[in-house]
Amino acid sequence: MKLSVELGRLSLANPVCVASGTFGYAKEMAGVFDLSRLGAIIPKTVTLFPRDGNPVSRAVETAGGLLNAIGLDNDGIDSFLEVKLPELSRLHVPILLSIAAAEPAECAVFGGKLRNVPEIAAIELNISCPNVSKGTDYGSDARKCGEMVTAMRRATEHLLFVKLTPNVTNIAEIAVNAVKSGADGVSAINTCLGMAIDWRKRVPRLGNPRGTGGLSGPAVKPIALRCVHEIHQAFRDNGITAPIIGIGGIASAEDVLEFMVAGAAAVQVGTANFYNPTVVPQILDTLPQLLDEAGISDFREIIGTLKQPGSMPIHRSCLRPQ
Ligand SMILES: Cc1cc2nc3c(=O)[nH]c(=O)nc-3n(C[C@H](O)[C@H](O)[C@H](O)COP(=O)(O)O)c2cc1C
Repeated sequence: MKLSVELGRLSLANPVCVASGTFGYAKEMAGVFDLSRLGAIIPKTVTLFPRDGNPVSRAVETAGGLLNAIGLDNDGIDSFLEVKLPELSRLHVPILLSIAAAEPAECAVFGGKLRNVPEIAAIELNISCPNVSKGTDYGSDARKCGEMVTAMRRATEHLLFVKLTPNVTNIAEIAVNAVKSGADGVSAINTCLGMAIDWRKRVPRLGNPRGTGGLSGPAVKPIALRCVHEIHQAFRDNGITAPIIGIGGIASAEDVLEFMVAGAAAVQVGTANFYNPTVVPQILDTLPQLLDEAGISDFREIIGTLKQPGSMPIHRSCLRPQ
């Protein structure tokens, strides 16, 4: 069964990757399964300078999901390149480096640091973190998104994916502008802005100064599917063939195939890694069987094949009397 996939000029052995912030820098997962099976690794987002992140509590469980407000805790790009990247490279899995620039001017600095770093297969530009001040400013407005992506495109020749926020009215418009501004593809979605409250103490359950966090896990899958579908439709309407990487609540091979039918060329597994650390090999073991049962020899043939909802006959007894 052929599971390889092309994301522009990047070829992945399979479409199942792990999402930023949910797989550490991979070494935390060493020994759990053979990490060389991963389609790609997207490590925790790095910023130009180290960040401490938000005060605790940084994560709480909610119905069907996880609400987090980590706040981009990381050691900065210099430390990543010096310490984390050599370890990650030993896994021989494509690395999509997730970076967050506070403003377009930072892109040139990132670009300079990433020049001649062939270990990085692509950049995932995170303009969608809801847990830091101004984290979604460039992801929630098509024009501002264009400014950031244009700056990053000028700064690097690396393959460039832009990670989008679902916390907008029209994600498709922003995705189209990202590609028109030079992105090679988009990743969707980051977490959905939410809140959890301890009513007895009458305080938010997260330590983030705004009391909010990003919701992920099975609860967000329908939102993510809708976003991927809308982006895929808008790409088609604008003659754009750029790949979409689907993210949000993926926890099984069935989920992966749903995202591909909606238009994703590859997927990232996030929160499921926390409650089922072997979810990725389980998905990879099950995918060929599901495709085989459906008579599909190359799964790429299902990408973006969602049909219009059929016109279901309405049973007369369901109609109210006139
Ligand atoms: C604890 C945690 C930390 C995260 N950190 C990042 C991050 O640093 N950068 C990023 O782009 N997304 C981050 N995300 C978002 C995930 O990469 C993913 O987009 C989101 O969780 C939806 O996928 P899921 O429902 O499969 O988790 C984080 C998510 C969680 C749960």
